[in-house]
Amino acid sequence: MTNRKLGRGVAVVGAGMSRFGAFPDKTTRDLFVEAFRELCASMDKGLDPKEIEAIYIGNASSDLFEGQSHTAPLMTSWVGLAPRPATRVEDACASSGVALRQGILAIASGLYDIVLVGGIEKMTALPIEKVTDALTTAGDTLYEIPAGFTFPGYFAAMATAYMHRYDATPETLMRVGIKNHENGALNDKAQFGQRIADIMQARRASAAKKGLPVPDWKDEMEFLHDDRVNPLIAWPLRLFDCSPVSDGASAVLLVREDIARRFTDVPVYIIGSGQASDGGLSDRRDLTTLPVARLAAQQAYAMAGVQPTDIQVAEVHDCFTIAEIIATEDLGLFAPGHGGRAAQVGDTARTGSRPINPSGGLKAKGHPVGATGVAQVIEIWKQLRGSAGARQLPGDIRLGLTHNLGGSGQTCVVHIFERR
Ligand code: COA
Repeated sequence: MTNRKLGRGVAVVGAGMSRFGAFPDKTTRDLFVEAFRELCASMDKGLDPKEIEAIYIGNASSDLFEGQSHTAPLMTSWVGLAPRPATRVEDACASSGVALRQGILAIASGLYDIVLVGGIEKMTALPIEKVTDALTTAGDTLYEIPAGFTFPGYFAAMATAYMHRYDATPETLMRVGIKNHENGALNDKAQFGQRIADIMQARRASAAKKGLPVPDWKDEMEFLHDDRVNPLIAWPLRLFDCSPVSDGASAVLLVREDIARRFTDVPVYIIGSGQASDGGLSDRRDLTTLPVARLAAQQAYAMAGVQPTDIQVAEVHDCFTIAEIIATEDLGLFAPGHGGRAAQVGDTARTGSRPINPSGGLKAKGHPVGATGVAQVIEIWKQLRGSAGARQLPGDIRLGLTHNLGGSGQTCVVHIFERR
């Protein structure tokens, strides 16, 4: 593979996001304003928004979720940045990860020095059937969706293949959910800011208060095996194996590397970027791996000149618990078949040897699809700057990675970040 380099270096110097969750009283514009305001407040040495030269916004499906397309200029105008050029980027759940790459390329090309990259999605205004219909348009609607696939169905097929090949079990998957809820409980932006143990206790307390029989789950595993609280969605995936339906917005400010210290003393440099594409699930020989992720990762590692073993923290696309396991293997963080075991023995916990999704991941933080890719970057930005608060990883964290997936694995974009 050709070892491509960026024409000019790029750094992240500011970041902000709304809370993720269900916000019936908020529009996408409100959420984007929250993200943009937080970004402005995060700028260590201030920002005159007039300096922003271009805007790239990841948005998967506002057309179907809200009956509103053409969202990039609207958001740009709403935060007072019109008439700067604004471009919407659509690549399903990878929309804002790919928007980030477009922002990077725009700076690397020499065209701009200061670029805003955002992500938005408001999914919860529709009933779940319509949400599912909107999401399935990102699948293969010629061959696969008519055969009955939904997104939980796609990832259930991968989970089944993985379990069969590697002797994994539904408990292997559940461990990922337990870990990500542990992390999400430390994230005040998370949709589910509760550990599964806390949710279990709350259910017991609620039953007791209503005078109903109090369930006697002995631990989280027993809770997660209870069909009443954790129903099957698509075997073997249950409710707590799925990311939720969410509203939210995210934003980061990218600048040319050599002006980064004008904005902050702690820039986070983007040293690797990779992206790849594929057809649908039915095109693949092996459902236990995603070729797009392997290729995007290879490109990003080659550009950065680093190895998977150098990566100290990763935010990966855990739209379903199995997706996190497969991602960690495709990224080379664990050998094939070992990602599940790593989750089981705690290697991927915040205190483990290879922390994955300290933000709570899509599972607990939430997954407003178009906003997810940039939200992953925000977590890495915080972890590298030592500003992740209660969920800050121990040690001197200098190298982090994001992995953002679109559809059933038709798009993957991987970025590598460094604090020098
Ligand atoms: N994990 C844990 N709990 C969840 C949850 C999730 N993913 N989604 C909803 N809940 C909880 C709710 O908080 C609610 O709890 P409460 O009764 O204590 O208030 C309860 O489950 C019911 O919520 P509801 O919103 O009615 O769930 P739903 O049945 O409409 O949706 C799913 C559940 C799994 C179908 C939906 O979250 C989903 O489709 N997720 C996948 C989204 C997706 O495919 N994204 C793209 C990925 S590529």
